[in-house]
Amino acid sequence: MSSEILAVLKPYLSFFHPVTMWILLVVALYAMYLGVQVRRTRLADGDIKKELVKGRFAIRHHQIGSILLALMVMGAIGGITVTYLNNGKIMIGPHLFAGLGMVGLISTSAALVPFMQKHDWVRSIHVSLNLILLGLFGWQAVTGVQIVQKMVSQMMKNGAA
Ligand code: HEM
Ligand code: HEM
Repeated sequence: MSSEILAVLKPYLSFFHPVTMWILLVVALYAMYLGVQVRRTRLADGDIKKELVKGRFAIRHHQIGSILLALMVMGAIGGITVTYLNNGKIMIGPHLFAGLGMVGLISTSAALVPFMQKHDWVRSIHVSLNLILLGLFGWQAVTGVQIVQKMVSQMMKNGAA
């Protein structure tokens, strides 16, 4: 019974990870925008600073960053799980390692937060790690779409047979 349910759910499960990850890419870009505003606010002075402070960018960046952290870790675990359910094994390839690397980068960058207020060089590490993270995200989007294309052509072949 449970394997029948799994068979019905399989096609939807396969597309859940790619779709949610594209949404997460938009969230990541929004986090970057907020981070840039945090930096602008910190470095500004006078009236411009007063105006920027009203945006509460530091709090909003921290909130969106926390959501991004949780969804990225869950998304990577979800990707591995769905791959296993579909193939009975995990695909060892660039998408897997870049995904695991991203989990490492984002958790490290979040772990730096308590130390950032005191040391500016820790802020720079936070920003650098996250720029690498965004680069890898772009790469994941490309390799992820390639995997989707493979899956779709496999489904068409199976359907035609
Ligand atoms: C797309 C990923 C991210 C990017 C591009 C990014 C970028 C930045 C930038 C540019 C700053 C300002 C640094 C400065 O003032 O010089 C910053 C600060 C900060 N980030 Fe991130 N960040 C990201 C993810 C995260 C995550 C995942 C968290 C935590 C869960 C986080 C928490 C913070 C905090 C607490 C600050 C300091 C705010 C303050 O000054 O009070 N960020 N980030
Ligand atoms: C941005 C768009 C992304 C797309 C379109 C995408 C697409 C996919 C697809 C189609 C699979 C195979 C699922 C299956 O076999 O049913 C997969 C697996 C996986 N994804 Fe993604 N993904 C994306 C982003 C990410 C990100 C950001 C991470 C990590 C944070 C990630 C981590 C993984 C992992 C670890 C696997 C399992 C290993 C593998 O199949 O290589 N993916 N992804």
